[in-house]
Amino acid sequence: MNPSPNPAFDPDLDSFLQSAQRGQLEELCDWLRIPSISTLPQHKEDVERAADWLAQKMKSAGLQNVETVPTDGHPIVYGDWLNAGEGAPTVLIYGHYDVQPVDPLELWSSPPFEPSVRGDDLFARGASDDKGQLFAHVAAVEAVLATSGALPVNVKFLVEGEEEVGSQGLAEYLPSETEKLAADVCLISDTHILSPELPLIIYGLRGIWAGEISVRGPAHDLHSGMFGGAVHNPNQALSTLLAALHDRSGRVAVPGFYDDVQALTPSERTALAQVPYGDAELLQETGAPAAWGEEGYTVTERIGARPTLEINGMWGGFIDEGFKTVIPAEARAKVSCRLVPDQDSSAIGAMIERYLQQIAPQTVDVSVDTLQHAPATVVPLDVSEMQAAARAYHRVFGAEPVFSREGGSIPIATVVQESLGIPILFMGFGLPDDNLHAPNEKLHLPNFYRGIRVGIALMEELISS
Ligand code: BES
Ligand code: ZN
Repeated sequence: MNPSPNPAFDPDLDSFLQSAQRGQLEELCDWLRIPSISTLPQHKEDVERAADWLAQKMKSAGLQNVETVPTDGHPIVYGDWLNAGEGAPTVLIYGHYDVQPVDPLELWSSPPFEPSVRGDDLFARGASDDKGQLFAHVAAVEAVLATSGALPVNVKFLVEGEEEVGSQGLAEYLPSETEKLAADVCLISDTHILSPELPLIIYGLRGIWAGEISVRGPAHDLHSGMFGGAVHNPNQALSTLLAALHDRSGRVAVPGFYDDVQALTPSERTALAQVPYGDAELLQETGAPAAWGEEGYTVTERIGARPTLEINGMWGGFIDEGFKTVIPAEARAKVSCRLVPDQDSSAIGAMIERYLQQIAPQTVDVSVDTLQHAPATVVPLDVSEMQAAARAYHRVFGAEPVFSREGGSIPIATVVQESLGIPILFMGFGLPDDNLHAPNEKLHLPNFYRGIRVGIALMEELISS
């Protein structure tokens, strides 16, 4: 499972990296054992422990000025190394140490917070999203400092514990600390590549709007025999409303939804058509019986460059074992939209609410609450750091990276671009089948070790860009 030693690295560094692998994996596993689930209040102390663990690790790796910064939510961890000398560029490395909930627990093959290596994969919640990917960069800095005593560039780590819940603390902190966080480029490893051998540089991520739809009917739950057929069942009304959110061609049916969407240019469509990812890969990775989506667009376009609306959860009435003949008073759904450039993430909730209220029958009350929103991110392809990123991937993987847009969201990316005025390099090491946010999340270990090398190669390449 060792990536072949790269002749382009200094021999001392190369042998350090070879012998450090076991320790790096053990340390990552220690961190993964801490259940830092940001959305669940009962894990608040675990989230803090994960922040402290990282702060300690950053110190032992040789980073300086390490601090955990409290926020109204979970702490931010900061650390830097700024001794690269006059004229050297500064890289801001962003990541997150919070993780998603683990349910449904029974579908995990090994417990989510007891990291388990099977074959070339490390299974644990957070292995790929994002502890493993962030740890790779701490390990990269540690390796270079240990073998040569200095980094070629200045480095600032900025790691949050609220990415999976909307990054509120960091979104407030970042604009107030622009001097401290000033950098030439921001590196984010919280995405994936296309296959273990094929690196990917992402130049666009979708934005997000997430909210909750409530449908209220009778004042309280009712016996379905006594009142069924005479009172509109909120579950049924919600189903009808949810079904009306898309048309038959897979487009979102909410009026105004596409008004500000930037159409794909023919040249971008041609470029995206080169991405070796299509229906076959999609079906293989997801296990879905057939592909689905907006007519007239390829899988790559549907995922990265077109907006969508997803129903993330829907509930109401009795869902335990057995049955109960009830008409619930209320039915609800959690819904989220992925957004593309120029769509106003703050306007989507009102659009959906207006539409649903317009089509809702008089027999129920409908409301929509926004939980969070963030705009899409696009990165210019012509900045010199992009070329440095491509060279770094090439040196380690021996393959030219593919350039594409992706569907997930990293809300803080736009805040970094706007507050610090710097480009972002989305350089991930995960794989599309890493089971992010799902049972059996994993990290492909050869990618982890390559990620460490890419982190090192990037520091070296940035001084020649
Ligand atoms: N690592 C993901 C983002 C991601 C996933 C980017 C796949 C590209 C491809 C990140 O941790 C994440 O899950 N973000 C959330 C943000 C949301 C909760 C605001 C997302 O995209 O759902
Ligand atoms: Zn995530």
